[in-house]
Amino acid sequence: MTLDERLQNVSVVGAAGKMGSGIAVLIAAQMAELKEKNPDVLYRLNLIDISKKGLIGLGSYMKKQLIKHAEKSINAIRELYANRDDLVENTEMIDNFVFESMQVCNLTNNLDAARDSDLVFEAIIEDIPTKLKVLGRLKEICKDDVIYYTNTSSVPIGLLDEKLGLNGRIVGYHFYNPPVIQKLVEVITNDKTDEEAKALGMELGKRLRKKLVPANDISGFIGNGHFARDGLHGLNEVERLTGEGFSIPEAVYIVNKVSQTLLIRPMGIFQLIDYVGVDVFWAIFEVMREHIPDPTLKNDLLNKMMEVGVKGGQNPDGTQVDGFLQYKKSRPVGVYDISSGSNIPIEGEWKEKLDKYIGPLPEGCQPWRSMLVDPNKGQKLERYFANLRRSDTAGAKLAVGYLERSREIGQMLVDTGVADSPQDVNDVLLNGFFHIYGPINNY
Ligand SMILES: NC(=O)c1ccc[n+]([C@@H]2O[C@H](COP(=O)([O-])OP(=O)(O)OC[C@H]3O[C@@H](n4cnc5c(N)ncnc54)[C@H](O)[C@@H]3O)[C@@H](O)[C@H]2O)c1
Repeated sequence: MTLDERLQNVSVVGAAGKMGSGIAVLIAAQMAELKEKNPDVLYRLNLIDISKKGLIGLGSYMKKQLIKHAEKSINAIRELYANRDDLVENTEMIDNFVFESMQVCNLTNNLDAARDSDLVFEAIIEDIPTKLKVLGRLKEICKDDVIYYTNTSSVPIGLLDEKLGLNGRIVGYHFYNPPVIQKLVEVITNDKTDEEAKALGMELGKRLRKKLVPANDISGFIGNGHFARDGLHGLNEVERLTGEGFSIPEAVYIVNKVSQTLLIRPMGIFQLIDYVGVDVFWAIFEVMREHIPDPTLKNDLLNKMMEVGVKGGQNPDGTQVDGFLQYKKSRPVGVYDISSGSNIPIEGEWKEKLDKYIGPLPEGCQPWRSMLVDPNKGQKLERYFANLRRSDTAGAKLAVGYLERSREIGQMLVDTGVADSPQDVNDVLLNGFFHIYGPINNY
């Protein structure tokens, strides 16, 4: 079966979630295009989720995203409707495109709606028993040659394949959050992966204009393999600093600031963990520990955050929920104090004392956003990191330690066969995490 044929009937399971809703937008848009070219074919996108409330919000989320998508691709949309005399203005074409995309969607709580699908995207919660239950039911009802693309962040696809007897017809198709915007898809296969499933995944990724990076089937893969250990390094640094007399919120502030400002990253490590979700981050370790014999893949403070239920993530309107940090309009304004259950504002003497400890920023330190668009960024980064290494402030030492740990993690992913090359590791961090330099570097 060709990709065009398979795109006639698709299901997204977990469609109301962060990832599923984005995948739904991408596939609905593909179907609207195909429908225009093949008006006699019936297209159907089943958007399946157990959450009724989630499905209610899904329609309006999709409409908003489809409008943005169509506006951005207006030239392609104009070309698509070139022969339509009834559509003249851009707004008419966009409205029509959004209408046609929504027309193919069938929002439902019923998993059995996936029965006739030829492609199934699974984006339900990161929990092995739930994934096994849902994929097991799909195997019972779907055709034998259906292909499953799972968005799992850490579950080895070989485990799902073996336990359910999917004959290699499952590929790890790891979109990044949010799937509509993020360019990266990590494509996870192993030596049992069906060749057709692999090839169609590559073809689909190109059509969605994604940057595809292959990863091997080892829990965490490249993106979370790096992120989990990088975040763990941040948590361990917090522990070290509390041993030096800082309180936990003070240490969180220091590590977050150093990992953003001195490493010239888009977010500090605790802001990133909050963005992904403290609970999602925690779940990645739970799964990884089952498959990787490394007892250090855990952290007490992280467990305590789960116990008190401070989980970060996003509100339905996209704003940031408090986690390690407190947010106003998605900007960090406080740090969570687990001992009192309240937030400490990042201001005044409290902040000054910690900034003094970090020390002055080394020469050439530029915010991530301005470095990102700097035409001389290569040279500037080289000079900056040389200055960072020469600086003997506490902040610089912490940053250099972070830089080296990040490189060590990247190299380990290559050495243990998770990634095929240093370039693949760097590509994932550059495209999926918006870093401006890869972890395997000469800085
Ligand atoms: N959040 C991220 O940044 C991110 C990034 C990449 C990959 N992932 C992975 O994507 C998957 C989904 O993550 P998410 O962040 O979108 O989670 P989410 O909690 O936002 O969404 C999960 C959705 O699955 C639904 N669901 C749960 N059990 C179900 C069932 N039995 N049947 C049907 N629907 C069910 C929930 O109602 C929810 O809408 C996970 O495997 C996660 O590891 C997440």
